[in-house]
Amino acid sequence: MRALRSNRTGRIRIQQFTDTHLHADSGKELYGLDTERSLRQVLAKAREAAPAPDLILLTGDLVHDGSSHGYRRLAGYMGERGVPAYALAGNHDAPATMASIFQGLPVDYRETLTIGAWLLVFLNSHLPGSDAGALGGKQLEQLRALLDDCQNRHVLLCLHHQPVPVGSPWIDRIGLQDAAELWQVLERRPEVRGILWGHIHQDYTGEAHGVRLLGSPSTCVQFAPRCDDFRLDDIPPAYRWLELAADGAIETGIVHCPLPDDHA
Ligand SMILES: [Fe+2]
Repeated sequence: MRALRSNRTGRIRIQQFTDTHLHADSGKELYGLDTERSLRQVLAKAREAAPAPDLILLTGDLVHDGSSHGYRRLAGYMGERGVPAYALAGNHDAPATMASIFQGLPVDYRETLTIGAWLLVFLNSHLPGSDAGALGGKQLEQLRALLDDCQNRHVLLCLHHQPVPVGSPWIDRIGLQDAAELWQVLERRPEVRGILWGHIHQDYTGEAHGVRLLGSPSTCVQFAPRCDDFRLDDIPPAYRWLELAADGAIETGIVHCPLPDDHA
């Protein structure tokens, strides 16, 4: 585990960008939206936040086609930002490509981060060939061992797929397939304060077994909540901010970033 120092207040400020869906070529669209233009807009808005975040989380579906060009450009944006960035894989990603491309670039692809009173755990729910996700028995055992050894730190779990149903059957069918096994690992683990994910392209907040549950909207297109079938929402691109307090509390919110054309 590598440690990163927290700021003087002991609060850890995070910006989460998820489901960026970049492509090998700039300018490509997803459901009629140029995902890279949209990401640039979100990053520009996020840069205005004061104080600046201590770190950035990129929670999967970073590159729609899993291309190395997409990951390189994403790392370029993170380099411009100059804030430590940590990435995990989603269903659209290519984890092996991510791991090799991000080597030496300003995005870290790793399993844990210790910062101040917190341990952040980055789980890989990528299931090859599937839009659904799973952690697998080995990773769940590793998580159990990490929690045994977390030395009373507060824990934030980060992954791509939702570990609870969010109320839209079509996307809940492609959620975390071994969520029940994850929740077994989390039984009687009061140190686990929150779970943060992407994938659902919408804001979701909840709580289960004393754990804060946070699903986040995308930096590109959003999915309408509580729909039986896939439907886009007309909510603008967004990012989530989080502040992790030394006592384990989590404050969080969503910042929407309308594209200039949205005002036309
Ligand atoms: Fe996505």
